[in-house]
Amino acid sequence: MLDASRYTLAPGGDHPPVIVGGQGVYLYTDDGRRILDGCAGAIVGNIGWGRPEPAAAAQQAMAEGGYVVPIWATRHRLDLIERLTERWLPEGFDRVFLTSGGSESTDSAMRLARTYQLAMGRPERWKIVGRHPSFHGMTLGTIAVASHAGRRAGFEPMLVDFPKVPWDDPAAVVEVIEREDPGTIAGFLAEPIIGAAGACLSASDEYWETVTDLCRRHDIVLMADEVMCGYGRTGTTWGHQHTPMEPDVIVGGKGLGGGYVPMGAVAASRRITDALGSRQLMFFTFCGADAACAASSVVLDILESEQLVERAATLGTRLGAALRAELGNHSLVADVRGRGMFYGVELRCPAAAVVAETLRRDLFVYPAGTGADPVPQAVMVAPPFVVDEAELDDIVSRLGDALDEIAARRP
Ligand SMILES: Cc1ncc(COP(=O)(O)O)c(C=O)c1O
Repeated sequence: MLDASRYTLAPGGDHPPVIVGGQGVYLYTDDGRRILDGCAGAIVGNIGWGRPEPAAAAQQAMAEGGYVVPIWATRHRLDLIERLTERWLPEGFDRVFLTSGGSESTDSAMRLARTYQLAMGRPERWKIVGRHPSFHGMTLGTIAVASHAGRRAGFEPMLVDFPKVPWDDPAAVVEVIEREDPGTIAGFLAEPIIGAAGACLSASDEYWETVTDLCRRHDIVLMADEVMCGYGRTGTTWGHQHTPMEPDVIVGGKGLGGGYVPMGAVAASRRITDALGSRQLMFFTFCGADAACAASSVVLDILESEQLVERAATLGTRLGAALRAELGNHSLVADVRGRGMFYGVELRCPAAAVVAETLRRDLFVYPAGTGADPVPQAVMVAPPFVVDEAELDDIVSRLGDALDEIAARRP
C-alpha cells in the first residue's frame, strides 16, 4: 500500500483513499477495493475512466514539441476551437478563450464582461450579478460573485460585494437590477441548472425569460456557467438548452477534458467579441496547453461518435425513475431532481455522513449543498455516460442502503 499520510496540506483529518486506476465507472484503490464512481469524479468523467485514446493524443502532442505561449496558435488549439465552434457551440459563437479549468473560465468570463463594457465606453459598469445559491469556482473573484455560505466562510473581508438575486424569483431579479442601477452592471453569471450549490435546482421559464430580457434591454452580458451542466451532462449539449435563457457567453470546463486533462473554455457570441476590437483577455500561463487541447478534442470525438450525450438522456430517464422510486419517500430525503446524468438528492442529514456511508459500500457520490438555505445538505448522482442499466441500479441501491443505515442509527 502507498503512504498517503502527507498527501493533504493540513495534517488533520482522515487519510484519503489512494486510487491506482480506473475503468468504465469504477475506480481501483491500492488496497484492492473497486469503487463505483457515482459522480464521475467531480462530475467530470463523462466518457468514463481508462480510455486510452485521450492519453495517446496527449502523448503525441507532447512528443511533437512542448510549451507554447497562449498568445500563439498551435494545431491542437486550432483543432479544438474548430470542433467547438462547428459542432458544439450555438450558432454565432465563433470565438473561444481556452483556459485550464472551470474557475479560470468563470473568472475570465467576469473579466470578459468588464472588458466588453470598457470597449463600449462604459467604465462605470463593473458589477457582476450572481445568484443565490451558486458556486462558480475558488478564485476570490468567483467566490465573490457566487453565493455559497460554506465556501465564503472566513474569506468575506477579501470579497467584493457583488449583487445577488434569488435563483427562482423573476420579480426579485427585476427589483435588484433596478435598485443596483443597470448602468453600473457589466454582467450576469448563472448556472442554467444549479449544480453542487443547489443539487440540480432549475428555475422556471418565466425566470429565464425575465433574466434574458433584462440583460438584452440593459446590455448586461449574460453568462451561462456550464462548467458542471455542459458538454452533455443533462442529456443535451448545454444545460441552458432546457430553458429560454439566451446567453452571450458560455463557460465550460470539467467534461470538456473528461477528467483526462485540465481544460476549460470561454466562448462568446459575435455580438460580444465584435465589440472588443483588439482588446484581448490576459492569459494564464497554461491556458490551452497543447496536450490538453489534443486530449479534449478526442474526448469530444468519443462523445460524438459513441452518441454518449444521447445515451445520457436515455439512461437519465431511468436513473431519475430509479432514484425517485427508491429514495423519493425516504425519511432522510427532502427531494430528488435533475435530468440526464445529473441528479441531486436533497437530504435531511449531513451530506458528509452519506458520502462516508456510501464509500463504506464502495460507492462515491458527490457532496453538495452550501450548508445554508435553500439547500443545506445534498448529494449528486452523476455517473459517467458509459454507465449501464445494472450499474445505475447498483448506484441507487447502495445509496438507498447507506441512507437506511444512517436512518436506523438515528434516535
Ligand atoms: C458550476 C461550476 N462552476 C465553476 C466551477 C469551478 O471549476 P474548477 O473546480 O474546475 O475550477 C465548478 C466546480 O465545481 C462548478 O461546479
